[in-house]
Amino acid sequence: MIEVESLTKHRAGLPVLDAVSLRGVDGGVTVLVGPSGGGKSTLLRCLNGLETFEGGGITIAGHRLAVGPHSDVGLHELRRDVGMVFQQFNLFPHLSVLDNVMLAPRAVLKVPAEEARSRALDLLNRVGLGSFAAARPATLSGGQQQRVAIARALAMRPRVMLFDEPTSALDPSMTSEVLDVIMDLAKAGQTMVVVTHDHGFAKRAATLVVELVAGRVARQGRAEEIL
Ligand SMILES: Nc1ncnc2c1ncn2[C@@H]1O[C@H](COP(=O)(O)OP(=O)(O)O)[C@@H](O)[C@H]1O
Ligand SMILES: [Mg+2]
Repeated sequence: MIEVESLTKHRAGLPVLDAVSLRGVDGGVTVLVGPSGGGKSTLLRCLNGLETFEGGGITIAGHRLAVGPHSDVGLHELRRDVGMVFQQFNLFPHLSVLDNVMLAPRAVLKVPAEEARSRALDLLNRVGLGSFAAARPATLSGGQQQRVAIARALAMRPRVMLFDEPTSALDPSMTSEVLDVIMDLAKAGQTMVVVTHDHGFAKRAATLVVELVAGRVARQGRAEEIL
């Protein structure tokens, strides 16, 4: 599902990813850990085609990313299959919760309105927010907004989900409600790459833990070995 070969990315002449390889991630939950500035976000952004890179290559959900500019068509197809949830939820403030979740399936996949609506409601129920469908995002707590962001990403039925520190902008009291949703996805077999400092979550969920330090894979293995 995910293969990264010797990925190298420079910024201002310095390597922020230095020959990073991940092999044989065939499903499961890969947790990225490591100190701030180690390259975790950059790696996730490369996996979703948000960044170009100078060396190596990526295969993800059947898509191939190589050195040089990515084609618009390629990115369009990639992002149907690879969903991303950010630290800041980035919901559309002027749309209801339901419309946030329906938007991409309607606009990108051309799913008919009624079907998109019923799927979006199912997803909101799955993240425990069915009763908030008509609300504006700003009226929800941070934890609730992040769960909407997860539902919105799932609405595209991605083969891989990427999470970049999904709970680090939240009050600690809201962390578990979001991690529980991500844990449920893991149990349902969703392939995921999760950047998190929550070692408890990593120990429960991770099939593979990868530690990135200064742009290199310092260690990788099972959670019990690494954490
Ligand atoms: N937009 C940017 N411009 C220049 N340098 C950046 C930018 N974003 C990140 N970096 C640098 O790239 C390195 C890796 O950052 P990042 O991937 O955000 O690490 P992490 O997510 O592990 O904290 C850091 O040294 C950071 O300063
Ligand atoms: Mg980061």
